[in-house]
Amino acid sequence: MTERFVVAIDQGTTSTRCIVFDRRGNLVSVAQREHRQHFPRPGWVEHDAMEIWRNVGKVVPRALNQAGLSIDQIAAIGIANQRETTVVWDRRTGVPVAPALIWQDTRTDLVVEALSRASGAEHIQELCGLPLTTYFSGPKLRWLLDHIPGLAERAERGEVLFGTMESWLIWNLTGGPDGGLHLTDVTNASRTMLMDLRTLDWHPRLLSFFGVPAAMLPQIRSSSEVYGTATVVLPGVRIAAALGDQQAALFGQTCFDPGDAKCTYGTGSFLLLNTGTEPVPSRHGLLTTVGYRIGDEPALYALEGSIAITGSLVQWFRDRLELISTAPEIETLARTVDDNGGCYIVPAFSGLFAPHWRSEARGTIVGLTSYITKGHLARAVLEATGWQTREVVDAMNADSGLELTALRVDGGMTANNLLMQFVADVLAVPVVRPMAAETVSLGAAYAAGLAVEYWPDLEGLRSNWHPAARWVPEMDAAVRTRERENWRRAVERTFDWIR
Ligand code: G3P
Repeated sequence: MTERFVVAIDQGTTSTRCIVFDRRGNLVSVAQREHRQHFPRPGWVEHDAMEIWRNVGKVVPRALNQAGLSIDQIAAIGIANQRETTVVWDRRTGVPVAPALIWQDTRTDLVVEALSRASGAEHIQELCGLPLTTYFSGPKLRWLLDHIPGLAERAERGEVLFGTMESWLIWNLTGGPDGGLHLTDVTNASRTMLMDLRTLDWHPRLLSFFGVPAAMLPQIRSSSEVYGTATVVLPGVRIAAALGDQQAALFGQTCFDPGDAKCTYGTGSFLLLNTGTEPVPSRHGLLTTVGYRIGDEPALYALEGSIAITGSLVQWFRDRLELISTAPEIETLARTVDDNGGCYIVPAFSGLFAPHWRSEARGTIVGLTSYITKGHLARAVLEATGWQTREVVDAMNADSGLELTALRVDGGMTANNLLMQFVADVLAVPVVRPMAAETVSLGAAYAAGLAVEYWPDLEGLRSNWHPAARWVPEMDAAVRTRERENWRRAVERTFDWIR
């Protein structure tokens, strides 16, 4: 019998990738294509959803060709995607009515401010698990309905459809205007502010709070079940999973038990802790979100610490300050000095996310003296990621009442040994990276493979997880305490810059 494989499509903030996995969870082939980032005004971040869809049509055949695979060898497709990013398109033509508003986009600050004064605002987080901020889809959708003439009426009539990236891709993969399926999964729906975390359905009170017509919303399904069959790109192949990319990484890291946690270090960084089958409300600035749901089984919930700017601070250092020419060079530069020289960088480029949720915050560099070299700045860039991780771990320990004992990590920045050592140092717990580095795609593949019985159960997946690198804390406790306090003071400086 010919060998079969699972295809994962990872539609991320900067690129779209297709990765093919075999039964042991090994990566067989990968193809990637970046899409353009549009910054039409300060704080605005947009993507062209059509460009992204075209990129799917390019990377999938390329990944199959590279490995010499035919479509009938593909058992299922799983999708992982950048979350919260909001697309609205015409049901009849399939054309988006506006650019996709990206999760980092802060144009909705006034919408959020007005909504936070509206009646019922205080109950929103209880229902959907999320604080009212620019990050999530609800305010973005409200902004589009307010700013595109006639859109609200068309939405009422069901002529236009809303979706996050997985909805947009599934609709297109299953025929688009010719009968495409309009659906989402619980993890992505849990980032819209429109879903009731307990019933896992759209909540009428949330829809009326944001003024969103139900007629434009996708059906909410589990993260792992056969939704339908692709008619294009991989015609005849079952689409069997969708998860927000951070939840996909939780799944790919096999964090199946309450207490398991992972942090994915990419453009931003996202630390998720599996909290079991009951949603845990946060009192310390974290999000309550759906971790995953397999078919009809109960949903697993997570507490999440979302950090907006980590890898993108390194990109800024490279592309805007031009102090390095490739991202890995930051480690070499940081190693030219022994410490940060008293300098701290707080990258509040999109305000500050968890645990502060201060959209008015703006970035700062403090502690500059003529002693500071670009090596110290490089160190401060990396340390910002470490301290931001520490802030969300502190919040997580306080919310869950459990002390994190080890952290599983993945994502591009984990190739930086200096950074991973620093994370272990400031958390004072070991940090472990698995052999399978592509945990986002792997999680989507696992969820799809489970739904079509390519993999039998979670236990089998767990045995695929093997540690590849481990960093243990070395920092002196007194140094940690002093530096933690310096970081806290630097963060305070970012809060009241804009009056
Ligand atoms: O919530 C935003 C997150 O899903 C983005 O992840 O990896 O596409 O930057 P990434």
